[in-house]
Amino acid sequence: MAPLMFFLRFLFFLSPVLFLMISTQSLAVEHWCSNDKGNYTTNSTYHTNLNALLSSFISPSNNGNGYGFYNSSYGENPDQVYAIGLCRGDHTWYACRNCLIQIVQQQPEFCPNQKEAFIVNEECMLRYANRSIYGHMETVPAFPLVYGNDVSSSVDGFIQKLRTLLEDLRGQAAGNGLLRKFAEGNANAPNSTIIYGVAQCTPDLTEQVCSDCLVGALGHIPKCCQVTQGANIINPSCYVRYEIVPFIDPTNIRPLPSPPPPLTVIIIVVPIGVSVVLIVIFFYICLRVRRTKKKLETRKLIPGSDNTDEIGSAESLQFDLATIRVSTDDFSEANKLGQGGFGFVYRGRLLNGEDIAVKRLSTNSGQGDLEFKNEVLLVAKLQHRNLVRLLGFCLEGSERLLVYEFVPNASLDHIIFDPTKRAQLDWERRYKIIVGTARGLLYLHEDSRLRIIHRDLKASNILIDTEMNPKISDFGMARLFVPDQTQGNTSRIVGTYGYMAPEYAMHGHFSVKSDVYSFGVLVLEIVSGEKTSGFRHGENAEDLLSFAWRSWREGTASNLIDPTLKTGSRNEIMRCIHIGLLCVQENVADRPTMASVILMMNSYSLTLPVPSQPAFYLHRSTGLDMSLPSEYNSGATRSDRSKSNSVIVMEYETFTEPHPR
Ligand SMILES: *[C@@H]1O[C@H](CO)[C@@H](O)[C@H](O)[C@H]1NC(C)=O
Ligand SMILES: *[C@@H]1O[C@H](CO)[C@@H](O)[C@H](O)[C@H]1NC(C)=O
Ligand SMILES: *[C@@H]1O[C@H](CO)[C@@H](O)[C@H](O)[C@H]1NC(C)=O
Ligand SMILES: *[C@@H]1O[C@H](CO)[C@@H](O)[C@H](O)[C@H]1NC(C)=O
Ligand SMILES: *[C@@H]1O[C@H](CO)[C@@H](O)[C@H](O)[C@H]1NC(C)=O
Repeated sequence: MAPLMFFLRFLFFLSPVLFLMISTQSLAVEHWCSNDKGNYTTNSTYHTNLNALLSSFISPSNNGNGYGFYNSSYGENPDQVYAIGLCRGDHTWYACRNCLIQIVQQQPEFCPNQKEAFIVNEECMLRYANRSIYGHMETVPAFPLVYGNDVSSSVDGFIQKLRTLLEDLRGQAAGNGLLRKFAEGNANAPNSTIIYGVAQCTPDLTEQVCSDCLVGALGHIPKCCQVTQGANIINPSCYVRYEIVPFIDPTNIRPLPSPPPPLTVIIIVVPIGVSVVLIVIFFYICLRVRRTKKKLETRKLIPGSDNTDEIGSAESLQFDLATIRVSTDDFSEANKLGQGGFGFVYRGRLLNGEDIAVKRLSTNSGQGDLEFKNEVLLVAKLQHRNLVRLLGFCLEGSERLLVYEFVPNASLDHIIFDPTKRAQLDWERRYKIIVGTARGLLYLHEDSRLRIIHRDLKASNILIDTEMNPKISDFGMARLFVPDQTQGNTSRIVGTYGYMAPEYAMHGHFSVKSDVYSFGVLVLEIVSGEKTSGFRHGENAEDLLSFAWRSWREGTASNLIDPTLKTGSRNEIMRCIHIGLLCVQENVADRPTMASVILMMNSYSLTLPVPSQPAFYLHRSTGLDMSLPSEYNSGATRSDRSKSNSVIVMEYETFTEPHPR
């Protein structure tokens, strides 16, 4: 403590102006000292190290990373201290340092002996611990600071504008690079109100993790403050803030360095010998390209490969039938990968060597050509690493084909339910599959401009790539939504026995929460290695959900864990079971959103709600299922397709109003 206080006194002595500035600043301050991560004693090595580290943060010679981010550590194991500091993106170095000085000054008072702590005020934050925290997202605790009164008029309009603004800022901030993940903006709300907003993450997070963190912060808004004129939700890794008065100074935002200049300059100075070789290669490539072009004449473009332009028109995605016929060896039996509710899937190889999967739709879909093209255009725009990419389509005569990227491994059901192959899936991989699927689904539900409800999420619709990353397939079949519509009713129910939420199976009522239900079933399947339908435990035939629920109630949930899982954190596994049970709750409103699911997976310190009883609708709907083989089974023989993977297709065409509202 002594060196620090000495240092501060020294500063004050030197600079009365600075002292004045600090003492007049009165920013709201919040702090959290971890009482269960260990304490240090006064004058211990840890204490001295901490003081030295904090003094270095506010030393006049420390400019952080130049963009308001400080990361450093001090001392030796086991007394090493790690700290991160972050200032709001529009702060000058001077303002940033003042803000940090204020926090450092208050630290001994707030958290006098805890090894780990998080102290914030409205404009900067400080985090320290005895473990490495760089690159680790922490979303707990989250402090909501609320500003102003409630919005008095046009509340719904306000909420809508606010949400759009903050969602935009979330994307921008996350995509902003390693130096500073910050975005600011404003939006016009009703009654001449302007909403000003910012979103920021510590820049050590990856784009995806930053985005997840902000999803979490935004998730607090409906609970604390969506009708107030301002709020600031701060957690250790990110925050969002908005107000109806300007609070940032955009002119202070230092521009980020521009990307390195293109490589052309370097080529000029390459020695002549090398140049000759390059020229020869260049001409060779040109010749090849011209030749292939001739061969490819029938195919108008190569979508998804070298065409990085925005997908503009249906033409750029259109394949012609002759090309597809050649690539799939005229839809040969040998190239058949599987069959889903919508038709057979074939493997193909284009002339450029690219592998594709072609879904040949059954001709009686009843959809017009234009409608079909529009749908394809929309779905092709959905691109996420956990979604199977739609490359294009073909529409000729009665043929309707969808062309997808080819995912080399089998679908998840062929691995996880296979007594020998499931051994490939240790817990780490299963967890990766759960998280990836959750991310893909979140993208469909919230991140893409369209709101897509999958409606048939199941193990056979999760394809696994060579790195064991999951990719959700078949999402294009879902009904497409305009952005604000979150639920709907349908007279045509397409789903799979055991995965369908009861409100959907029985009333045709679907929403993002019916997908969450299917996700919950999937998680329980992945943890247990058992199919939801055809699940047997002991002598009694019992479905997976009933068994999971009963075990949970009786405190024996660990019985659910696949016995082949020898390693892996029990804690993490139990948490997944818990999350799975939350997702399959009978009451739609009790099920979490995919954003909360991601949040729950990411923060272990977050206490999960207690699940209520799942929906056991399975018992009531026997007899409705008709067996169809699974969707896609590359790498697997056709005879080992899962037999109980049945698809329900119910038509209620005779009803004009399928579901009483
Ligand atoms: C941090 O301190 C706690 C409590 O003293 C200790 O259990 C833990 O192992 C320490 N962590 C590291 C990474 O040293
Ligand atoms: C650390 O100290 C706080 C009080 O300062 C106390 O509440 C807490 O129980 C202590 N934690 C441990 C692990 O000793
Ligand atoms: C810590 O060290 C300072 C100066 O070295 C001393 O004045 C103070 O009494 C010490 N405190 C304790 C609790 O040992
Ligand atoms: C952040 O600080 C830690 C601890 O000193 C260090 O290991 C790491 O390399 C730092 N990262 C960057 C990007 O400076
Ligand atoms: C607009 O807001 C002001 C206060 O900010 C309020 O007095 C007025 O009634 C509002 N007008 C409408 C049309 O809501």
